[in-house]
Amino acid sequence: MMHQTGDNRPIGVFDSGFGGVSLLRNALIELPNESFIYYGDNGNAPYGDRPEGEINRLASNAADFLVHKGVKALVLACNTATGAAIRILRQKLDVPVVSVEPAIKPACEREGDGKVLMLATVATTRLARYKALQARMPDPSRVINVGCSGLVERIEKGVTDMYAFDDILDEKLSPYWGMKVDGIVLGCTHFVFIAGAIREYAKAHFDGECILYDGNAATARQLHRVLEVAGLLSGRTAPERERVTFLTSVDAQTSKIIFDRLLKMPII
Ligand code: DGL
Repeated sequence: MMHQTGDNRPIGVFDSGFGGVSLLRNALIELPNESFIYYGDNGNAPYGDRPEGEINRLASNAADFLVHKGVKALVLACNTATGAAIRILRQKLDVPVVSVEPAIKPACEREGDGKVLMLATVATTRLARYKALQARMPDPSRVINVGCSGLVERIEKGVTDMYAFDDILDEKLSPYWGMKVDGIVLGCTHFVFIAGAIREYAKAHFDGECILYDGNAATARQLHRVLEVAGLLSGRTAPERERVTFLTSVDAQTSKIIFDRLLKMPII
């Protein structure tokens, strides 16, 4: 292949906690010959209720940590960190940085007279970068942003059961019950692990198709393109046996159990 230079260094993937594992799953499929270092800043999760400056500092520390581990590219698998820190990280790091963003574009491109609900952390809904993205939509008022505090904490404990989030969803979504909803954007990588719970909840409480969207697959494809253009794809022709190294800012033993389960569990 023309651009393949055989750079076998790992790719760094970062999230405030386990959410980015949902994106890692896409990246593992998209790039079967690459290896990854996943860093979850579980000790500081959730980021989504913190002020922008703090998210910035935490994301910056995590990025430095991964760069010192020798990664050839960095994936911000956290919508919240993208909103707060992507510009600064791109300026200061010598490696390419690819990042996930709430997938409101595909949701808004699908025609319909219903609303698009964008579920994310409170921080994401408030950050200027996301607001600018929403303003670029053909009809920005079609998108209703819902900051869903509380979900991430529960998912961080490894909870993903179908009806285990209804109390929080009631609290955040009851103002919209009965509304025609064309699409629901999972604007936080953690929420992908409870897609089934959100879909069931939507079926019970909203009208409309309620198609779920997330930015993971598109981000994995973007990572592929960026590595290819930069000549950074690995030279391997078969996957390594241990493709993923898991690192965390808390006790690794307990977290590894949750990490392994999320990496493999079926997402419905
Ligand atoms: N998973 C992260 C995101 O995509 C944020 C979770 C958090 O720490 O609040 O936004």
